[in-house]
Amino acid sequence: MSATVKAENRDGVLVLTIDNPPVNALSHSVRVGLNEELAKAAGDAGVKAVVLACAGRSFISGADIREFGKPPQPPGLHEILDQLENFPRPIVAAIHGNALGGGLETALCCHFRIATKDTKLGLPEVKLGLLPGAGGTQRLPRVVGPAKAVQMIVSGDPINGDEGLKVGLVDELFEGDPAKAGEAFARKVIAEKRALKRVRDDDSKLAAAKADRSIFTDAAAAANKRNRGLIAPLACAECVGQTLEGTFDEGLAFERKKFLELMNGEQSKAQRYAFFAEREAAKVAGVSAETKPRKIERVAVVGAGTMGGGISMSFANAGIPVTIIEMGEEQLNRGLGVMKKNYDATAARGGLKPEDVTRRMGMITGKVGLEHAKDADLIIEAVFETMAIKKEVFAKLDAIAKPGAVLASNTSYLNIDEIASSTKRPQDVLGMHFFSPANVMKLCEIVRGAKTAPDVLATAVAIAKRIAKVPAVVGNCDGFVGNRMLAARGKQSDKLLYEGALPQQIDAVVTRFGIPMGPFTMSDMAGLDIGWRSRKDRGVKAEIPDALCEAGRFGLKTGKGYYKYEGGRAPIPDPEVEDLIAKTLAKMGKKPRAVSDEEILERMVYPMVNEGARILEEKIAARPSDIDVVWLYGYGWPIYRGGPMFYADSVGLKKVAERLSYYAKETGDPSLEPAPLLKKLADEGKTFASLAAA
Ligand code: 3HC
Ligand code: NAI
Repeated sequence: MSATVKAENRDGVLVLTIDNPPVNALSHSVRVGLNEELAKAAGDAGVKAVVLACAGRSFISGADIREFGKPPQPPGLHEILDQLENFPRPIVAAIHGNALGGGLETALCCHFRIATKDTKLGLPEVKLGLLPGAGGTQRLPRVVGPAKAVQMIVSGDPINGDEGLKVGLVDELFEGDPAKAGEAFARKVIAEKRALKRVRDDDSKLAAAKADRSIFTDAAAAANKRNRGLIAPLACAECVGQTLEGTFDEGLAFERKKFLELMNGEQSKAQRYAFFAEREAAKVAGVSAETKPRKIERVAVVGAGTMGGGISMSFANAGIPVTIIEMGEEQLNRGLGVMKKNYDATAARGGLKPEDVTRRMGMITGKVGLEHAKDADLIIEAVFETMAIKKEVFAKLDAIAKPGAVLASNTSYLNIDEIASSTKRPQDVLGMHFFSPANVMKLCEIVRGAKTAPDVLATAVAIAKRIAKVPAVVGNCDGFVGNRMLAARGKQSDKLLYEGALPQQIDAVVTRFGIPMGPFTMSDMAGLDIGWRSRKDRGVKAEIPDALCEAGRFGLKTGKGYYKYEGGRAPIPDPEVEDLIAKTLAKMGKKPRAVSDEEILERMVYPMVNEGARILEEKIAARPSDIDVVWLYGYGWPIYRGGPMFYADSVGLKKVAERLSYYAKETGDPSLEPAPLLKKLADEGKTFASLAAA
C-alpha cells in the first residue's frame, strides 16, 4: 500500500484519500498509489463507486513541480487519468481547498465533481511558463465552453466553487468532510443509476464556437491582450483552439507536444525557478520555522505621501485597519484624497465594486499627530527621506508606541541601525521597504538591523505575506539590495550618454529585454529637479541632466525632460534633447561614438550582476535567488528571465566576467572589474546557483 494514498471500502463506496503534505501534489508515490488502487478496484465487484478526496487543507494542487526536468518515473499522470476516466463505475471527486493544475485535470477525469463553495478551481500552469499538460486544455473547454476556458487557462486565475457550479465545472456544493460528502453523493449517483459523464466524449459546449469562431478568437485575444513577451499564454490559447479543429485525441497530442516544448524551454525554467525563489526568500537565516510572529491587529502608517498612501491601501485591501498619520490637516486630506481617487479609478475600470471602495476607505482612519500610533502593533514610517527627520520621528514613536510594537521604516537608502539608535528598543526596529506604487508592487524588502530580534523579522515576513506582498529579507547597506544594484546600472546609463548613446536608444534596449521602463523614462517620471538641487547643494556637476534642468526640463511634470510629452505620459524622443546632448559633449570636448545595442545591454545588466556578487560577498543577501526576487517583484524584471543572477548564470559567468573586465579597461571605470566572488565562480566554471546548492 502506498504511503500517500489510503483506500477504504465503506460499504461499497471505495474512498481513496490522498495524503501528501503540504499541498497534495501528484508526486510519484501518489501516482503509484492511485494506479494500484484503481487497478484493484476496477476488478472488484464489491466496489460500486469510488470517491477521490484529500486529507489536510486541500485537494490536489498540481503535478509535483520538483519532479519537472528530471527523468519521468512511471506511472505517468496520463496513465492514471485514463484509469479514472475509463473506470467502469462512477468516480466522484470531492474537492476542498485548491484543485489546481494537474489537480483540476484529475478532477476533470472523474465522472462527477463536488466542491466547497470557497474551493479554488484553476489551471495556473501558465504562471510557471507551462500549459495544462494533462488534458486540461482539451477537457476544460468541453465543460465550461472554449471562451471561459481560454480566459481561465491564459490568466491562470482560479474560480471559486460557487462560480464552478454556475459554469458547470462542479455538480454540487458541499460543506464539511470531503470524504463523507463524496460518499453521500456517490450513493445518490448509484441509487439514481446516473450515466457516467466522460468529459472527453461530450462536445456539446463546443458547438457554438465551432459555428462562430469569433466566440473563441475574441476571448483568446482579450485574454492575451497584456502579454509581455511570454510564450506560454499564446501556446495555451493555441491548444484551447484545437478543440474546435480536430478530435479529442488529436487535441491531446497537440497539447502534449506544446507542453514538452514549453517544459524544455528557457522561459519555463526561469519561471519555475522564480516560483521556488519566492518561497525560499521567506525563509530567514537565524529565524527558525518555530519563531512565533507577533500579533498584528492594528497598523499605523506615518506620512500620507506617495508611499504612505499606497502602503495604507495595501493593508486596507487585506482587511487590516490602519491609521494614517500626518503632520497637518492639509497634508492628511491631500493624502486621503489621493487614496480615494486611486480606488475610484480602479472601480471605474471595473476592478472594484463601489461598495468595496467604501469598505476599504472605511479601514483607513486619518489622524494628525504621532500620538495616534499608540495602539498600533506595527508602525510603518514613510516620511521624508532625511536622516534627522527619521530619527526625530523614531525617538517620538519610542515614547509613544506600546511595548512590543514593531517599528518599521520605509526608507529607500538610509541606515536602519542609525534610525534604530534613536530608540531604546532597537530590537523592535527594522526596514520594510515597499516599492512605488506601493498598493501595486509586490516586493517588500525587509531590512534587518544589527539588533533586530528574530520574532520581529518573522512578524514582518508574516504581515507582508498577509497583505499579498513578496517578502525578501536583506541586510543593512546604502540602498539595500534593489536600489544599490539600480545605482550600479544608473551609473552606466548616465555614462553611455556621454559616449554617444541617446536616451531613447538605451531605454529601447532595456524595454526590449523585458523591463517595463527604461532608466531615462524612469528619471523623467521621478523628476530631474530633485537630483539637480541636491547636486547644486553638494557642488557636484552632471553636465547633461544639469543642462536639461537649466532649460526648464524637469521631466514628465513639466512636459519635457529626457523626452517630450504631448499631454499624456508617453515619452516622445525630442530632437531638442539630441541637440542639447551634442552641444554639451562638444563643450566638454567629447566625441560621440556609435554605441551598439549589445554593448548597451551588457552595460545595463552585467554591472548589476557584479554589484549582486558584492552584495553576496558582504552577506547583505543570503542567497542569489533572494536578489532575483527583489528584481522580479520590485523592479519589473521579466519573470521569463528569472532575475539578474539567474540570467547571468544562463549567459555563463565566464562571459559576464570577461565582458566586465573589458568594459573596465575600455571606459577606465575600475568599479566594473569583476567582484572577487564573480571572478572566482567564473574561473571555477561555476554558477551563482551552485552557491545555493553548497
Ligand atoms: N509541487 C511541489 N511543491 C509544491 C507545489 C507543487 N505543485 N505547490 C506548492 N509546493 C510547495 C512549495 O514549494 C512550498 O514548499 P516549502 O514549504 O518547502 O517552501 C509548500 O509546497 C507550500 O507552498 P506555499 O508556500 O506556496 O503554500 P500556500 O498555502 O501559500 O499556497 C498553493 C499553496 C496555492 C498550492 C501554491 O503553493 C501554489 O500555487 N502552488 C503551485 C500550484 C501550481 O502551479 N500547480 C500546477 C503545477 S504544474 C502542473 O500541474 C502540470 C500539469 O498540468 C501536468
Ligand atoms: P512624500 O514626500 O510623498 O511623502 C512624505 C509625507 O510624510 C508627506 O506627506 C509629509 O507631510 C509627511 N511627513 C513628514 N514628516 C512627518 C511627520 N513628522 N509626521 C507625519 N507626517 C510627516 O514622500 P514619499 O515618496 O512617500 O517617500 C516617503 C519615504 O518612502 C521616503 O523615506 C522615501 O525614500 C521612501 N520611498 C519612496 C519611494 C518612492 O518611489 N517615492 C519608493 C520607496 C521608498
